[in-house]
Amino acid sequence: QLQQREMLDAIPKDMSSGWLDPLATTGDKLLAEEVRGIGGAAAGADEGEWKAKQRSTAIARGKISTLSIREQREGLPIRKLRDEFIAAVRAHQVLVVVGETGSGKTTQMTQYLAEAGFTAKGMIGCTQPRRIAASSVAERVAEEVGCRLGQEVGFSIRFNDVTSPETVIKYMTDGMLLREYLMDDELKRYSVIILDEAHERTINTDVLFGLLKGLVKRRPDLRVIATSATLDSDKFAEYWFDCPVMRIPGRTFPVTTHYVTQPADDYLELAITTVLRIHVTKPAGDILLFLTGQEEIDDACEKLNSRMKALPASIPELLILPAYGALPAEMQSKIFEPAPAFTRKVVVATNIAEASLTIDGVYYVIDPGFCKLKVFNAKTGMDALQVVPISQASAKQRAGRAGRTGPGECYRLYTQDAFKTEMLPSTVPEMQRSNLAQVVLNLKAMGIPDLLAFDWMDPPAPATLAEAMQNLFALGALDEEGLLTRLGRRMAEFPLDPALAKTLIASVDLGCSDEILTVVSMLSVDNVFFRPKDRQSLADQKHSKFHQPEGDHLTLLCVYQAWKDSGFANAWCFENFLHGRTMRKAHDVRKQLLSIMDRHRLDVISSGKDFTRVRRALTSGFFTRAARKDPVEGYKTLSHGQTVFVHPSSSLFQKGPDWVIYHELVLTTKEYMRSVTAIDPKWLFELAPRHFRKVDTHEISRRKRREKIEPLYDRFNPPDTWRLSKRLM
Ligand code: CDP
Ligand code: MG
Repeated sequence: QLQQREMLDAIPKDMSSGWLDPLATTGDKLLAEEVRGIGGAAAGADEGEWKAKQRSTAIARGKISTLSIREQREGLPIRKLRDEFIAAVRAHQVLVVVGETGSGKTTQMTQYLAEAGFTAKGMIGCTQPRRIAASSVAERVAEEVGCRLGQEVGFSIRFNDVTSPETVIKYMTDGMLLREYLMDDELKRYSVIILDEAHERTINTDVLFGLLKGLVKRRPDLRVIATSATLDSDKFAEYWFDCPVMRIPGRTFPVTTHYVTQPADDYLELAITTVLRIHVTKPAGDILLFLTGQEEIDDACEKLNSRMKALPASIPELLILPAYGALPAEMQSKIFEPAPAFTRKVVVATNIAEASLTIDGVYYVIDPGFCKLKVFNAKTGMDALQVVPISQASAKQRAGRAGRTGPGECYRLYTQDAFKTEMLPSTVPEMQRSNLAQVVLNLKAMGIPDLLAFDWMDPPAPATLAEAMQNLFALGALDEEGLLTRLGRRMAEFPLDPALAKTLIASVDLGCSDEILTVVSMLSVDNVFFRPKDRQSLADQKHSKFHQPEGDHLTLLCVYQAWKDSGFANAWCFENFLHGRTMRKAHDVRKQLLSIMDRHRLDVISSGKDFTRVRRALTSGFFTRAARKDPVEGYKTLSHGQTVFVHPSSSLFQKGPDWVIYHELVLTTKEYMRSVTAIDPKWLFELAPRHFRKVDTHEISRRKRREKIEPLYDRFNPPDTWRLSKRLM
């Protein structure tokens, strides 16, 4: 009895009263009852009873499952349509397949096609918008087929190709297929291409839509399948020459949706408490919590862990599993493993779990209503990751994740009113909200001159296209007529942001390609600096040893060099609070970039200790992301006059040099520049004469005289090149 009392006391206060009300009043009577049920239990029942109840529901819900892989395959909704599917692919060049997430589209269609002999004339390629989906699904299919991953079944994502000559089923990111198209515009190695998760409308899938639509006319033997988890199917079919649509009947259970009655002050806190509350009061069934990104997820997992520890031992174990794109492979597979009997699993995921990944056994979904999206910011002329409210379509998709194994529940941590009035019906396609420089460069390299006439399903805004053209022109990738230059062609060979590609190529002539290779590789992986919450100051102290007075790019160089000097030792990373895995990843990326350099006979030259060269090379790629110290506050970007600040993690945070270039902007409490390096302003017009000019001091006003450099490109007064590029798009 005492134990039960303790248990009640240990439940966070606001859980047994306080904010319980908002949910309880939205009709969640059952929940209120069960909370009382625990109180009731305190008067008599014991722990054994709780477990017995959990056990019976666990068995009833099939959690303690003994199904073989074959039986699992046989039980998928798509199984009944197998023959119909194969016949449709034989009879039609293009097919749209629609089915709820988890119906077996991604894992089964490739296998059905392979079993039916479609691999005789080429591979079956299946694209995924997300890296984590490509690798995890390939792993699952290899298991189902019974081969080693990388043999008959493999995957390919940027900087990581796990395929072999034996591979016949290949999962890959849509970006990788786009690169393959760049090398071979007939995609001769493939007999079937599945554009999976097309409803996500990533730029890459949208571009592949246009390219493959042209290709099916040139290659009558090629088969294209586009899949969607939602109902845009009519629009898809219409786009694809009115092709047939195959619908997989859903096998879903009703999901009860709860809203809060008042907006939450702190959705993270509310989410955490909701997880605990479900765990303590609800029958068996796993929980899926949607958060926005890695940092937030790690934070939530940490908090959940310590809050669980505070609960009495009689509360069953809660397995807390993070799920985001950058997660190491061995952690990834844990997400899919069923939780051991009498424990519950909570997966804390980004919106990868919305449709790309299917986690079985989820009965409870917690949806705070936010996600992180890449959004083009017209004020800065750049993409930035921003936390934004999700769309109604996303909210519905998220809720649906609770109804796959049985009747489920979805807790929306926003009001019903917010759902109706503040959320867009569906997510804006990436194409219409991002910087298109890389896409334009790739399309130009594929020989597509007229981008406005390209067969887009939803065309990008002409102004966004023009901005991308302008950017590529300034970098020297396009000439005055909007045609690809030799430099531009080389830039397209690298799977990098055009600014990074330009930096790398320019560094050869500037005599520092060895150093720039390292810097670019370090910028291409996740943050290497490890800062655990409980040892932040120690970590900062270790990190500060690497700080370079000229800026963060050189700090990254210095970190890599020191690691190299240690013999690439893992222990060294550990001692210095650096993520060993991420360092190895950077090492890997470097090797791959090096092989592209070799292929194009770009020399690898070291600048020795002359770091000025390195900073000049960076300026030649990042001059569009230059900023000048503002006498009033922070910095002003040169191209858009936007107020920005040096990120607190930067080695220049306190220094504040007059002129800087930066790698990216992140918007948190302020618009921050991340990865910042000090530059000499005269490099700007030396290295980017197409973008900056020196203003004659006689002809300018006093205010202007203080800032003698101005961008050529003025949005309100476009120069000729701007008009030219617009005409030639
Ligand atoms: O593509 P779709 O959402 O229609 O389904 P799928 O990804 O092919 O998933 C079908 C089933 O395969 C899921 O319900 C899971 O049981 C299983 N699966 C898995 O166990 N591990 C994965 N990595 C992917 C799928
Ligand atoms: Mg799928």
